[in-house]
Amino acid sequence: MERVVSGVRPTGNIHLGNYFGAIKNFVALQEQCETFFFIADYHALTTHPNASELQDRIKETLATYLACGLNPDKTTLYIQSHIPEIPELYLIFNMLAHLGELERSTTFKDKVAKQQSNINAGLLTYPVLMAVDIIIHRATKVPVGKDQEQHLEMTRNFVNRFNHLYETDFFPEPEAFNFNQALVKVPGLDGKGKMGKSEGANNAVYLIEDPKAIQKKVMRAVTDSGPKEKNSPVSEPVANLFKLMELVSEPDVLNNFKEDYANCSIRYGDLKKQLAQDIIKFTDPLRSKIQYYLKEEDLLRSIVQKGAEKAHESAGETLSGVKKIIGLKAL
Ligand code: ADP
Ligand code: TRP
Repeated sequence: MERVVSGVRPTGNIHLGNYFGAIKNFVALQEQCETFFFIADYHALTTHPNASELQDRIKETLATYLACGLNPDKTTLYIQSHIPEIPELYLIFNMLAHLGELERSTTFKDKVAKQQSNINAGLLTYPVLMAVDIIIHRATKVPVGKDQEQHLEMTRNFVNRFNHLYETDFFPEPEAFNFNQALVKVPGLDGKGKMGKSEGANNAVYLIEDPKAIQKKVMRAVTDSGPKEKNSPVSEPVANLFKLMELVSEPDVLNNFKEDYANCSIRYGDLKKQLAQDIIKFTDPLRSKIQYYLKEEDLLRSIVQKGAEKAHESAGETLSGVKKIIGLKAL
């Protein structure tokens, strides 16, 4: 059976990008594959060194996963730092990663630009830890958004290097996965680039947010000064709002706004109002479920405890296989 792994860093709440980029596809895969979904708290330490500040986010993330349909009877749900085999395999794989390729990673370069005061080695080896998250269960499918494509390519490089060096086929090559469709890139509300937790307070719409806050954020979304002539090209900020509509609105609604744009009669206020309404309609049922699960602390705890046991078992098998292949043996 195919094995699937994916995860999210608990550095903020789950937003529409996380949902449409990763969680939605993962929920579909849990019906057909052996699936592991985790909260990447070690990864979060690369940017958020005080883990105590992450604990509420971890609970919210877990509650949100359940609200989105991750089923703990079908999938193994766990917290990364509960599985000691992960840092152990990470140590081993650090010897297989080359400085040059790590320095060339776009996410590393991004982070270097963004957090000058804390360019730590964990940021540099972030792709190694991510590769290990995947290969620790010898997974082949990784439902993630477009932004993670390069990390998956690096994972395949590490896997191939290991297999080649030790003349084995122990690790299969994992692939970013979206049911034969292009990987998703959900845009943010600030007119440039992707929706993300670290892209500024008004960029992302979180599933847990109340309707008023969503409405306010969407109404503030960046647009442009409007089309000047018929069929003029759509600027990035407006294309981003259309893209969001594609995810949450009826196709007719989107087409009407596109037509209005093409014939210069579009009113961005109406576009945003409609988009806000459709996002709220989409998130409403999720929000009440998140609130429900947040109150069930014992349930959340027992889910991650059970998940850790299952993940530990799978990770233990992989790690002992690796040690044997490398030739690391107890006396
Ligand atoms: P963020 O980028 O907000 O910090 P994470 O890095 O924790 O979120 O991402 C977790 C998952 O969500 C990854 O699979 C990532 O590809 C996906 N994801 C995050 N933002 C987007 C986006 N804007 N579009 C598509 N997928 C996304
Ligand atoms: N790096 C991913 C992100 O920032 C999160 C992540 C960590 C992940 N380990 C993973 C995603 C393993 C998929 C599989 O989006």
